[in-house]
Amino acid sequence: MSFDPRYASIFPRTTDVRDGRLRIGGIEARELVRRFGSPLYVFDETELRAGIREYVEAFGSRYERADITYAAKAYLSRYFAAIARDEGIGMDVVSGGELAVALAAGFPAARCHFHGNNKSEEELREAVDAGIGRVIVDNFHELALLDRVARSRGVVQPIILRLSPGVDPHTHAKTTTGTLDSKFGFPIPTGAAEAALIEAQRLAGVELVGLHCHLGSPLFELEPYEEANRVMLEFAAAMRRKHGFDLREYSPGGGFAAQYLRDKPAPPVDAYAEAIVSSFKRRCAEYDLPLPRLFVEPGRSLVARAGVALYTVGARKEVEGLRTWVSVDGGMADNIRPALYDARYEAVVADRADDEPTETVTIAGKFCESGDVLVKDVRLPPTAPGDVIAMPSAGAYALTMASNYNMSLRPAVVAVKGGDARLIRRRETYADLMATEVWDEPAPVAGPQSSGAAPR
Ligand code: LLP
Repeated sequence: MSFDPRYASIFPRTTDVRDGRLRIGGIEARELVRRFGSPLYVFDETELRAGIREYVEAFGSRYERADITYAAKAYLSRYFAAIARDEGIGMDVVSGGELAVALAAGFPAARCHFHGNNKSEEELREAVDAGIGRVIVDNFHELALLDRVARSRGVVQPIILRLSPGVDPHTHAKTTTGTLDSKFGFPIPTGAAEAALIEAQRLAGVELVGLHCHLGSPLFELEPYEEANRVMLEFAAAMRRKHGFDLREYSPGGGFAAQYLRDKPAPPVDAYAEAIVSSFKRRCAEYDLPLPRLFVEPGRSLVARAGVALYTVGARKEVEGLRTWVSVDGGMADNIRPALYDARYEAVVADRADDEPTETVTIAGKFCESGDVLVKDVRLPPTAPGDVIAMPSAGAYALTMASNYNMSLRPAVVAVKGGDARLIRRRETYADLMATEVWDEPAPVAGPQSSGAAPR
């Protein structure tokens, strides 16, 4: 048997199998683990750049004033921020921390958009001082806060209002955002969006330049985007008539699906681009709106395929007639998605990548929780302790949601490119776990009880 070609679209495009051994970016997975330890996250630079260019091309070729604003929450490091900087795209950040990492890589603040439903005054100050391109204002509290911060700095901050259009995107409840019952954005149907727009036009510290919405993630359907465009642009047209509002910038958010499973393809980027750009142009024409600049915010779909998680097999437990557990050295601390969203992944035994599967096993993580399962019921060839298991499509929302649960050490991250591997994040150490602890054992208090001296 040979490597299942259906894996081709969930591993980085540089992946191949030689003598049964999985290679990413020209390097054997086993060799990467030998050099950098396990578990290990591997990012393929060719795939990362290809992912960015695919978006730039798909949207840019359909509309020249379309800009890609990568959603950094999916994956961020100085390494990737530098790639995004060089590729010329923008970045959507949701915290002072994300902004700090982007800036540390020399990413231009002017190409950053600051999102979030509860930005602190300090974060807003940092963003304004850095010269952030846009603040995507989420609520009235923030509007007032930002106006004050901007005026105290003597600047007028360009802003975009985040609206909730009340469109259900049919995805996981935990990742649905654009409905009325959401913590994000000013709802259109309740009148809050209009009130925010009036207020934003009145304030001297901010300049309202556009409107934004984000429906949820991942969205396998195209229709919700078309529906959101209709609702948002109709609203913009009404605000133009009533309040002279000039929609110069518009964003339908991100949320584009990535392929995790061999048999569950995601719509191609071109399909999203076609649906979004054509309905956007059609609605602008219908509502007599001059075409605004368009920002698109892919996160997951731009990085998922570029990342592969490598784990090493340890314990095995067979429960006769019920289940065979194969435990690996990572799990919910480095990838909480299966535990949190019932997310499903594929798994490949790196050194027997084209062997016939012979058994159904459940790959368990090593953390002290029954829910710590990485892949349920996966068909694998026989495995033994020490084998490396590769989990594809692990580039998005794994590392950025990782924790130190059980005082575990977050894994190392390696970038591969054309046969070279470079460590971009070292594995954490026990010293890292204690680096932020400032408590010290208090010095013993002198006195008869605590002196420790033997009674006389
Ligand atoms: N724009 C905004 C305003 C967002 O809130 C998000 C994601 C994106 C863009 C990017 O969405 P994407 O293209 O990555 O789907 N932790 C979850 C996903 C949470 C998404 C949060 N917002 C997961 O692992 O599935």
